[in-house]
This record gives sequence, structure tokens and C-alpha cells, in this order.
Amino acid sequence: MKKYGLLGNKIEYSISPLIHNNHFALFNLDAIYEILDIDDLENNISLIRQYSGLNVTKPYKEKILKFCQVLNAEAKEIKAVNCLKIINDKLYGYNTDVYGFYMLLVKNQLINHKRQVLIIGAGGAAKAVYYALKTYTNHDVYITNRTSSKVNFISSNTIDFSLVNNFLTEFDIIINCTSILDLPIKIDKIKKDAVVIDINYQENNLFLQKAQTLNLKTVNGIDMLIYQAAKSFAVWFEKEANVEVMYDSIRKG
Ligand code: ATR
Repeated sequence: MKKYGLLGNKIEYSISPLIHNNHFALFNLDAIYEILDIDDLENNISLIRQYSGLNVTKPYKEKILKFCQVLNAEAKEIKAVNCLKIINDKLYGYNTDVYGFYMLLVKNQLINHKRQVLIIGAGGAAKAVYYALKTYTNHDVYITNRTSSKVNFISSNTIDFSLVNNFLTEFDIIINCTSILDLPIKIDKIKKDAVVIDINYQENNLFLQKAQTLNLKTVNGIDMLIYQAAKSFAVWFEKEANVEVMYDSIRKG
């Protein structure tokens, strides 16, 4: 049986095993998808090599780069990997978050009309979101992050994190790409017709819940989760995924 999984730390909440295992069954694949929750990468590379493919999540999307023998064009450009294919002990790195976020924009009709966008965060996920926005939309994209030094590697359009509340009125789309679900920003400063996106998909998302109480349009990370999973499946098996079956797995729980 071939092994696949999700590599990260403190990721017991993940529903990726549910999505992939149901989907593997649909295709009659002799494969299993499991959580690989580890404290550090350095001492676990031989364990990683036992898998045929892995998704990579916090906090390893950037840290895994130096262990990859080959990076595809997007992963190389973004400098973040969220999908590994392992062949003969070699790690091939891909970025399927880009397609996942692009499809989130498509499904929520956020591609057209030039808009002002604010990305909060500057980790591996934020970089994929930035790349998708720059590649597939005409939007003006700004970035802010708690650690300001990281944003300069991504864009020159930056906002000081300590001043972000003063600028929220400027944005049509605000995207939480940090790993925290209770972002400390003043949601009541966001303009009323703005769209608030959180790429996290967990239900206990205080940031989105607060935005909803103010009647803002909100979008969670489920579409991104599904489409990055679908693209990862295509990387691993060279077959097109059945996205509807993936959505069904979540609906049925
Ligand atoms: P991923 O690869 O999934 O993006 P990551 O690289 O660990 O995960 O990035 C996490 C992001 O969440 C970073 O932007 C991080 O900010 P720092 O660069 O300052 O660490 C952000 N983040 C995590 N905890 C945070 C917190 N308590 N407040 C604000 N931002 C936070």
C-alpha cells in the first residue's frame, strides 16, 4: 500500500485525511492518507521518504525547500512548497496552493474588476496567495505582517502591521494568511462592501465570525483546501480528481 499524508506540526484538526481517503476509495487506489505531525524536519527526512506523496503545511512550507532535490517552476518562484512527490528517495516540490487560491477567487467571483487587496501574513501560504493574485488578477496587492522584515522579500507594497487599522478602509478584499484564527485587527474599520477571506477553514474562526456579525461578506478556506487537494492528487497520480466527491466528504463529515 502506498502512503500519502499531511506533513506539519499541531495539525490534528486537519480534514485532509477525510478528503483524500474517501477520494482514494472512489478510484480503488491501494493507498492511505495520514497525518504526519512532527516537531522538526531535520531528524525526520528518512521518515518523509517512506511516503509517495505529502502535502506540507505550517510551519514547514518554506523550511522543506532545502530538502527538495527538484522544484517545479511555481515552487521555485514562490519559494514555498505545499506538495511533495517522492520518487526513489528524491523529493520533488510543487505549489498547489496557488491553484487552490485561484479557484477560491473564481468560485467567489473575485477575479474581475480591479480591486485593492490586503494580504495579512508573510509565510508560505501568504506567498502562494500573493503569486496567485499577481498572476491571475489585475488587483493592487499590499502585504502586512507581524514580522515586518519578511514582507520586503515579497513585495514593495507594504503596510506596517502596527498601523494596519488606519488603512483598512482602503481595501476591497482583506485576506488572513496567518495561522491564527483570531486576528487582532479592528474589523469595524473595514468598509461595508469589502470581502473578508480567511484561508484557514476551521469553523472556530473568530476573525470571520466577527466580520459576519458586522454583515461583511466572508469566505473561508474550504474552496482553497479542496482545489489544492485536487491538484495534489493530479501531481501524485497523473489523473484528474473528482472535486465534487471531495466536497461531499466535507458535507458528510
Ligand atoms: P504557512 O507556511 O502555513 O504560511 P508560516 O510560514 O508558519 O505558515 O507562517 C505563519 C504566518 O502567520 C506568518 O506570517 C506569521 O507571522 P510572523 O512572520 O510574524 O511569524 C503569522 N502569525 C503567526 N502567529 C501570529 C500572531 N500571533 N500574530 C500575528 N501573526 C502571526
